[in-house]
Order: sequence, then C-alpha cells, then structure tokens
Amino acid sequence: MRGKVKIILGIETSCDETAAAVVRDKTEVLSNIVASQVKLHAKYGGVVPEIASRRHVEAINPVIKEALEQAGCAYEDIDTVAVTIGPGLVGALLVGLSAARAIALSLDLPLMGVNHIEGHLYANFLENPTLKFPLLGLVVSGGHTSLMIVEDDKKVEYVGWTLDDAAGEVLDKVARYLGLGYPGGPIIDRLSQEGDPQTFAFPRPMMDSGDFNFSFSGLKTALIYKVRDDPNLRKEDKVRDLIASFLKAMVDVLVAKSMAAAQEYGLSRIALAGGVAANSLLRSEMKRATEAQSMTFFCPGLPYCTDNAAMIACRAFDLAEETQEQGQRQRDMSLDVFSTLRIPQKRSR
Ligand code: KG4
Ligand code: ZN
Repeated sequence: MRGKVKIILGIETSCDETAAAVVRDKTEVLSNIVASQVKLHAKYGGVVPEIASRRHVEAINPVIKEALEQAGCAYEDIDTVAVTIGPGLVGALLVGLSAARAIALSLDLPLMGVNHIEGHLYANFLENPTLKFPLLGLVVSGGHTSLMIVEDDKKVEYVGWTLDDAAGEVLDKVARYLGLGYPGGPIIDRLSQEGDPQTFAFPRPMMDSGDFNFSFSGLKTALIYKVRDDPNLRKEDKVRDLIASFLKAMVDVLVAKSMAAAQEYGLSRIALAGGVAANSLLRSEMKRATEAQSMTFFCPGLPYCTDNAAMIACRAFDLAEETQEQGQRQRDMSLDVFSTLRIPQKRSR
C-alpha cells in the first residue's frame, strides 16, 4: 500500500470556472488557479452549458500546467489526483474527469472523485487548519442551498436542502430581472449596502416549517410582483431599498434555519461556504447570531467561497485517508459524473 498522501492535484470544472490547485498536507495551498468564464456567459444572464463545456476543453490543460508551475511541482511530485464529479453540469464535469483520469492513468496515481458541495464546506479548513468536527455546514451557492452535519468520522450527512431555487440562483435571477447585471450576487451585495432593509416587507419562506429545508422561489416571485405593481421600483433611488429588504429576508431565513439545526443536533460550530458565503450581510448576521449563542462561526476567505480546486483537493485528503484505512481500491476508472445531489438517507434528529 502507498504511504500517507502528501500532495494532491485538485481539478474543478463543475460549472463556469476551470480550476486546478496543488495542495500539500490538506491545507497548505501551493497554487490555486481559476480561469473564469463569467464574461462569456454574462450576455446570456446565466451559464450556458454548451459554451461552458467548450471553454473547459480549451482551458483545462493550460490551467493544470499553470497550477503545477506555480506550485513548483512536476507531475512526479503529485501523490493523488482529485476531481469534482458532481453535482454540476454533466458536460463540464466530464472535461475535468477526463483530464484527471488521463493524468492518474498515465502516472499510475490514485484518483479520487469529490462531491462539489463537500468541497465547498472543506474550503473552511484552508484558512482554519485547526477547525474541528463535529460541525454544522451551510453551503449556499448558485446551484445549492444545503445544511449538513459532519461528525468526527468526516462523513457528511444532509439535514436540509432547497426545495426549488438555490439562494445564489435567486440572486442571479432577481438581478437579471432588474437589469442589474451578472452574476447578481456580488452586485446585490454592493447595492444593498446602500439601501434600507426595513423599507419593503418580504416573506420569510419556510421559516416556521419545522424542518431545515428552504424555498426561495416564492421570495423571488414576491419581488417580481412588487415591481410589476410599481415599475418605479426599478429606479436607482428605490432599487437599493428593494434589494436590501429582499436580501435581508433571505439572510434571515438562512441564519434562523442554521441556528435551529445547530440547536436541534447539539452542535456549537457553524461553517458557512459556497459563492453566496461571500455575501457581507450573510457573514455578519451569521457571526452575530452565533456569537449571541456562544457558538463558533467559520467562513472561508473570499477567494475560497466561489468555485476553486483547492477546496476539492482539501476534501480529498480526508477521503484518501478513509479509503487507505479501509484498504479500498483508490483508482476507480469507472468513476462517473452526476448532475444532481443524491441525498443519502436524511439524518434523524
Ligand atoms: O459556489 P459558486 O462559485 O458556484 C456554484 O457552485 O454555484 O457560487 C456562485 C454563486 C452565484 O449565484 C453568485 O451570484 C453568488 O455565488 N455570489 C454571491 C456573492 N458572490 C458570489 N452572492 C451574494 N453575495 C456575494 N458577494
Ligand atoms: Zn460551487
């Protein structure tokens, strides 16, 4: 059997970022290269899967090469190749998997498939190497809104998820509807800081549903109805208050559900992750709520909130350890991608 894994090459192509990173000992990021396709998709107001796949094909080899160069590594220095296998766009994921498989096969290296959502959560370790389990994770991104528990055994168990649109998806759609630009999340973040969140009343969907699931599409519809009834709300002086009130409603639900889940499962650590974790209001409200309950709050630095490959490599260290302990085969060439989250049995309370 191989010795302990020291250096992992991570590859991430689940959506519109082609990314590769080299990580040593789980948290030491030697390089973290992200080639963003945002400009290509901006004119469509959202990610176009076919365009994403084609761009990944063009970018993947240069991005991997740059990650190795910046890390000062040769292929021979790599112990394991880790790649995102889902959830995500199938055509996009396949580009990363094909590249990872080719490298693993040609160099006789182990190949680890990583769940993108778990990768996001693990981004918390990159700047907090001493972060401990058990913890409650909230991953909020363009494709996901998931509450999960990670126990000492490092297994991820889902306790709540979105029943319709993901939080970031709603932010992007609302920004597009209001003609604010793409991607919507960072724009809404900036504009809402100049608005008054008390101006407009918005519902707090599923706040009292008694479970830890989310639903944000009704919140989006509430905003659309308000603007339909009063088109003046699109104007610059009003839109800031509108967006600030809307964002506050979303953040209130995310924070309340996270706090309730932590209490229900007796957890004192909450870790935020995913692209929407970059949101200033969500970060500050989560910090405030956790501090009020003497809980500890973690969130990744901004470059590690949105899609990157360092988080994928980081998660793979724990997976590699687990498979080594169990003596399992480490290079499964039949590894395949998946588009949607296959939620394992929901953890009982
Ligand atoms: O994690 P990510 O890069 O990709 C997915 O896995 O989906 O997340 C992208 C999402 C987009 O919806 C984007 O609008 C949102 O994260 N986002 C933000 C902020 N920065 C990115 N949302 C709110 N505030 C931000 N500052
Ligand atoms: Zn993501």
